Amino acid sequence: MAGLIPQDFIDDLIARADIVEVVGRRTQLKKAGREFKACCPFHDEKTPSFTVSPGKGFYHCFGCGAHGTAVGFLMEYEHMSFVEAIESLASSMGVEVPRNESDQPAQRYDELFSLMDTVARHWQSSLKESPEAVEYLKNRGIDGSTAKRFGIGYAPDGWSNVLDKFGKSDEATERLLATGLIIRKDNGKHYDRFRDRLMFPIRDTRGRTIGFGGRVMGDGEPKYLNSPETVLFHKGRELYGMYEARQALRHIDRLVVVEGYMDAVALARNGIDFAVATLGTATTGEHLNRLFRITENAYFAFDGDRAGKKAAWRALENALPQIREGRQIRFVFLPDGHDPDSFVNENGAATFVKLMDAGLPLSEFLIQELSSQVDMDSIDGRAKLAEMARPLVSKIPNGVYRELLIESLANTVGLTAAKLEKMMAAGQSGSDHGRHGGPRPLPKRRQPSASGGPSVVRRAITLILNYPESGQNLDTGKLAGVQRAGVELLAAIIETVQSEPNITTAGLLERWRHHDEGRHLGKLAAAAVPMDDDFDASAELQECMQQLAIAGRKERIEFLIEKQRVTGLNDDEKSELQQLLKAA
Ligand code: GTP
Ligand code: MN
Repeated sequence: MAGLIPQDFIDDLIARADIVEVVGRRTQLKKAGREFKACCPFHDEKTPSFTVSPGKGFYHCFGCGAHGTAVGFLMEYEHMSFVEAIESLASSMGVEVPRNESDQPAQRYDELFSLMDTVARHWQSSLKESPEAVEYLKNRGIDGSTAKRFGIGYAPDGWSNVLDKFGKSDEATERLLATGLIIRKDNGKHYDRFRDRLMFPIRDTRGRTIGFGGRVMGDGEPKYLNSPETVLFHKGRELYGMYEARQALRHIDRLVVVEGYMDAVALARNGIDFAVATLGTATTGEHLNRLFRITENAYFAFDGDRAGKKAAWRALENALPQIREGRQIRFVFLPDGHDPDSFVNENGAATFVKLMDAGLPLSEFLIQELSSQVDMDSIDGRAKLAEMARPLVSKIPNGVYRELLIESLANTVGLTAAKLEKMMAAGQSGSDHGRHGGPRPLPKRRQPSASGGPSVVRRAITLILNYPESGQNLDTGKLAGVQRAGVELLAAIIETVQSEPNITTAGLLERWRHHDEGRHLGKLAAAAVPMDDDFDASAELQECMQQLAIAGRKERIEFLIEKQRVTGLNDDEKSELQQLLKAA
C-alpha cells in the first residue's frame, strides 16, 4: 500500500477519465450544447446551474461555486480521500494503480531537500572563514547565536564553488539546477547563482531549507537575490522566519509581518521572536492563510513612507476575505526613515512592541485611508467614500465584523448603517469581477491599468488553463520583476505545461488541488472562453505576456523614479533607468 502514486499516472488517468460518466452515474445529467447540466448535487436548487464540461474534464456549479475534476467529484460526493478517488477511478476504468516503492518522486524530493541542507551547512561554515562577512553581520548588530539560529551563511566569491563541490555527476548537476543553486548558460555550461553574498536559508515549517535569499555586502545589485521558483520553493506562500519563530516560542499568540529578511532577524536578535518576513512580494492571501493557522493576531509593519502605505493597502485588500470573528489585524507604521531593523536597534524591543500595540486596526486603517482621499466636508465627498468602500466591504465574509465595519463607515459618512447598506447594495449591479455597474462610475483609484493589470494575469491563467498546449512557447523570463497578484502562479503553470506537454485542464487543476490557489483556478477554468477552432489562444497568451512585460517595465521605471526622488540612485540604477526610458 505504501509508496507514492506516480504523478504522470495521475495526469494520464485524469486526462482519460470520462467526467460525464463519473458524474452521470450519480446525478441525472441533461445535454446542453457542448456541456451537460443538472441540478447541483451539492446544494439545494430548482433550476440547474451545475454544469459538466466533457471537453475540459470538469464540473462547475454557478450557484454554489462547487467545482472540480472527476477525482474532485468523487472526493466531494462520495467523501473519498484523494487516493481512494484515484483508486476508484482507476478501477472503474479497468487499470491498476502503480506505486513507487521507494524510487522516483519521493526520493527525488528527499534528495533535493538534503542537497539544500548540505549547501546551507556548507555556507554556514564558509561564514566562519570570512572575516568580512562576520564583520558585516557584527556591524548590523547580529551576534553569533542569532546567525546560527537562522542558519545564516556566506557564499564566497567565484563562479563554480557550489558547482565544483556538489555537482560532480550529471545527476548531481541536475539536482543543483532543480534547486536553483546553479544556472545553465546557453552553451550548456553552468555557474553558481550565489556569489559573494550573505546567505539566508528559507525554511519550511518542518525546518527543511527550500530556498535562499542572498544579500550583497557592499552596494552591488541586486541587493537581495532569491532562489527562483522551484519544486520546493514558492515565494508567494513562504514567510521567512516562521520555522524559527515556532522553534523559539512554545505558544505563538501573535505574529508581526515585516518586509525584509534583516527585519525579521534583527527583531529576533532583540528578543522579538514572533516576526516573519514576506520575500520581496506583497502580502498574499496565502500568506494570511498560513498566519491565521498559527495565531489570530496578525500585525503588519510597514515603513511610514508612501511606498509603505501602498504596500499596507495591498495587504489590507488581500486580508479582507480572511476576516473572521476573533481574528485581529493591525497595521503598524514606522517613523519616517526607519524599518523594523533600524527601529528596534535604535529604540529597543519594548518600544517596538508599544508601537505594535498602538497599530491601527484594519477597519480604522481602511476608513482613514478612504477619508483622506475625499473631501469629507462635502456631501459628494462622503458619497464617494461610500462608493469606494463598497467593493472592499463586499470582500468581507458576512458576519459581525462586516456589520461593525459598515456601522463605522456609516458613522463616518453621517448615515445610518441601514441606509448605507442599502446604498451599497443598490450600487452593486453586475458581477464583482472588476466591472462596475450603477449610474455613477467609481473613482478610478487603484483600478488595474488597462494594460498589465491583474485582469491580464487572470486572462492569461484562464487561457492557459483552457488551452494548456498554448503555453508551450511562452517565455517566463518576461514575467521577471512583474509585481502582480497571481504572476507567480502564472509562471508556475507555464512551467508545468512546458515540462508536461500532454497535461490537460483537469490535470492542471489536480496539480493545484493542495494549494490555496486551487480554488481560484477552478473558477478561471470555468470562465467562458471562445471554443471555436480558429480561436488563437496562443497568440492571445503571447499578447498577455507582452502586456505584462511592459507593465513590469513601467513599474520598475516608476519605482526607480520614486527612489531617485527619495534617496537618490546609485550608478547602476541610473543607467538601468536610462535604458528603461529609452526602451519605453
Ligand atoms: P537591508 O538593506 O539588508 O536592511 O534590507 P531590507 O530588508 O531593509 O531591504 P529593503 O527594505 O530594501 O527590502 C525589503 C525586502 O525586499 C528584502 O528583504 C528582500 O526580500 C526584498 N528585496 C529588496 N531588494 C531586493 C532586490 O534587489 N531583489 C529582490 N529580489 N528582492 C529584494
Ligand atoms: Mn533594512
